[in-house]
Amino acid sequence: MKKNDYYYFLAKKKGYVSRAAFKLIQINERFYVIKRGYVVLDLGASPGGWSQVSRELVGDAGRVIAVDLNPLRIKGVEFVRGDIFSDDVVNRIRARVNEVDVIISDMAPKISGVSSWDHARSMELAERAEEMARIFLKERGHMVVKVFQGDMLRGFVRKLKKEFELVKVHKPKASKPSSSETYIICKRYIKNEENGENVEGSDEGQKEEEEQQS
Ligand SMILES: C[S@@+](CC[C@H](N)C(=O)[O-])C[C@H]1O[C@@H](n2cnc3c(N)ncnc32)[C@H](O)[C@@H]1O
Repeated sequence: MKKNDYYYFLAKKKGYVSRAAFKLIQINERFYVIKRGYVVLDLGASPGGWSQVSRELVGDAGRVIAVDLNPLRIKGVEFVRGDIFSDDVVNRIRARVNEVDVIISDMAPKISGVSSWDHARSMELAERAEEMARIFLKERGHMVVKVFQGDMLRGFVRKLKKEFELVKVHKPKASKPSSSETYIICKRYIKNEENGENVEGSDEGQKEEEEQQS
């Protein structure tokens, strides 16, 4: 967190461990992805701003399961430490939960400064989040995924549009304009009954203007 930053001070004041908390708050105010009672899988959760916000939104009837390479300690949040690419982490998530209402991924690679490289690494993480959706996301569940912008984004969005009824690319105000990060908001997962793979070709025509609905 940078010390001359409005959201840094706001995070301190409100007791959030990271300014990133406000990105999820703003995304949720606009897209209503997380609700009371939901089970949330938070990928790349450390230090825990998104987990805190999720915990507040789901309340005591819901659950938040956080995953990260780095440590995380947030009251009321279950934590699985490890690499999201490892089967062991998937099994440890599965030991806690069979399916979830929402997957949120703020995962980011270590920044190299070479934008094409950072974009490619961030796409790998985003695609892994999408694999987690195939394993854990409920039919009609939602997903929020961070990506660094670049030439592979468009193809990824196209793929997601076959898997979710509504897909929007959105950069919340709390995300610094200087950062190439943006978020893909995916609503209402379309799940094939057999294996969690998605059926092809949802109707894109009715997707627009639905952002404010649940
Ligand atoms: C921008 S931070 C997340 C901030 C967090 N959402 C918050 O609100 O405090 C990105 C996180 O992604 C995690 N990450 C990156 N690659 C990962 C991987 N392969 N498996 C698990 N976590 C990963 C990093 O360890 C880092 O903590």
